[in-house]
Amino acid sequence: MCGIVGYVGSKSVVSVIINGLRKLEYRGYDSAGIAVVRNNQVFIRRASGKLANLVRSLNSTPLTGDYGIGHTRWATHGRPSEENAHPHRDCTGKIIVVHNGIIENYLELKTRLQKENHRFVTETDTEIIAHLVESLMPGRSFEGASAEAIKQLRGSFAICLISADCPNTIIAARNGPPLVLGLGKQEFFVASDVPALLEHTRDMYFMKDGEMAVLSPEGVIVRDSDGQVVPCDVQEVQWSPEMAEKGGFRHYMLKEVHEQPRSIRETIAGRISLDSGDILLDEAMIPEAFLSKIERIHIVACGTSWHAALIGKFLIEDFTRIPVEIDYGSEFRYRNPLVSDRSLVIAISQSGETADTLAAVREAKSKHARILSICNVVGSMLSRESDGNLYTRSGPEIGVASTKAFTSQLAVLVLLALYLGRARNTLSGEQIHSLLPELIRLPQCIQQLLDRSSSYEEIAGAICRCNNALYLGRGIHYPIALEGALKLKEISYIHAEGYPAGEMKHGPNALIDQTFPVVTLAARDKQNPKSVLRYEKMISNIEEVRARQGIIIAVASEGDKRIPELAQYVIRVPEIADPLLPILMIIPLQLLAYYIAVLRGCDVDQPRNLAKSVTVE
Ligand code: AGP
Repeated sequence: MCGIVGYVGSKSVVSVIINGLRKLEYRGYDSAGIAVVRNNQVFIRRASGKLANLVRSLNSTPLTGDYGIGHTRWATHGRPSEENAHPHRDCTGKIIVVHNGIIENYLELKTRLQKENHRFVTETDTEIIAHLVESLMPGRSFEGASAEAIKQLRGSFAICLISADCPNTIIAARNGPPLVLGLGKQEFFVASDVPALLEHTRDMYFMKDGEMAVLSPEGVIVRDSDGQVVPCDVQEVQWSPEMAEKGGFRHYMLKEVHEQPRSIRETIAGRISLDSGDILLDEAMIPEAFLSKIERIHIVACGTSWHAALIGKFLIEDFTRIPVEIDYGSEFRYRNPLVSDRSLVIAISQSGETADTLAAVREAKSKHARILSICNVVGSMLSRESDGNLYTRSGPEIGVASTKAFTSQLAVLVLLALYLGRARNTLSGEQIHSLLPELIRLPQCIQQLLDRSSSYEEIAGAICRCNNALYLGRGIHYPIALEGALKLKEISYIHAEGYPAGEMKHGPNALIDQTFPVVTLAARDKQNPKSVLRYEKMISNIEEVRARQGIIIAVASEGDKRIPELAQYVIRVPEIADPLLPILMIIPLQLLAYYIAVLRGCDVDQPRNLAKSVTVE
């Protein structure tokens, strides 16, 4: 996620843009930049790091302009640096672009433009947009060339373009990430989100996918993908500024839970080919020669990321038959691990700054292992110390409880397991071709679960006063039981444990009575015999709990008729291929924990005693 602001009007352009970017820093903060135009001349200023660095530069060497665009970056391609910071420009330096999202076909376009002698100066996918518009200018207006360029882009993008040769005009286009237009009196705004506009106007137009808008002092014209003018149905936004930063959600955690369809979509974008069945993970930088010689894989992580690691073990061992060991970052280096130059060590971390995980990586490097990180922050310590990086493109995660980063980690692990399985010929083309469409379908399945949030709220009301809870799962669902329990304990302070369901008879059954809630993970993929067998065993475990009057909350597949006869509460999840069920089942558990914490009056975004990134050992 990045933050975009554009302004045309009579106010101080730099102030409007910078103040707007301040309100969008939650969307990305590894570099920032601004471009303004005065007397047909473009002035650009950029800075790596927080927005304050750009402000400091502007204070020491001010800029003024008649209109302009600005950007705060959350890097997905190209390190966080001043040269990769937006805005980017074309060869003439007159066409300027800022962008949020991913241009999936940027390499194809870049190759074509380089053959036309366009000179690129950054690693970003964004820069190609300015050169593409430039290449299409002959015989066209700036608006016409921009519209033609946008038609050639594939992927998810929100972009703003300006040109020194087209005064007082901003082109805005949306296909995925949000863009909202602010309509003032002879002044017009565009931004990634409402907070950037609230101090100037409450009259807003929320652009739809495929639309392109032209902003000028004369007004705003919006066209659809066919070039037809569409009515600008203005909405008056009543949000308070604080509410607006959370997109109208009460907490960052809730907002981030609801961002998961987008974050999964962006994490997958450009990494699979449905036609060929290829998994496109060259960014993992695993040499062919090494792929064939890997003897063992270790996955090191902490907390929620460690739960993702456990699921990674199931997926990678199943798809590649390579042994996978899992370690807490805090434990790995104390057991003299069996690591060699034939080991692949995967480090999973949302922040990329967790001290325990970094320490484990350094231990592995001392034993000549190859390091691959699955991380959410480009340029983080972990990403810099790894040989290859697979980024979860879920955007900044502000809530301490990790949600969207976790499901993006799982999506990356599915892709990595497929990639390794295909490289090692331990997966058939048919197995891969059957799973890829399910991955594409995943975001809409998650959205279906989010649309049922009120049913999870009702269950939360029934159990929010309990002092304990058990989460039970089998096989690849067991890590989800652990993650569901962690979500509950870290934001509601209820003592909750995740347990392998088969272990209940070896002790935990003693805990069960009519006051004890037990969340059981019993969804299944009817097409997968292993999944059905796991389900049958889970039914037995649920009956064990029922026999002891436990309060049963069961996560079950749609259409399941047996579970409602056994459980007091049933949470339905859509049918999906077995390896993707964990990603679906955690969604209602995230929301269950959230609603219970709210009912208990807890500080959901900043729970007591915890930090978002644990940079101490
Ligand atoms: C998860 O909800 C917690 N906030 C915590 O367990 C977290 O997952 C852990 O500290 C690891 O953080 P990382 O992914 O940034 O390395």
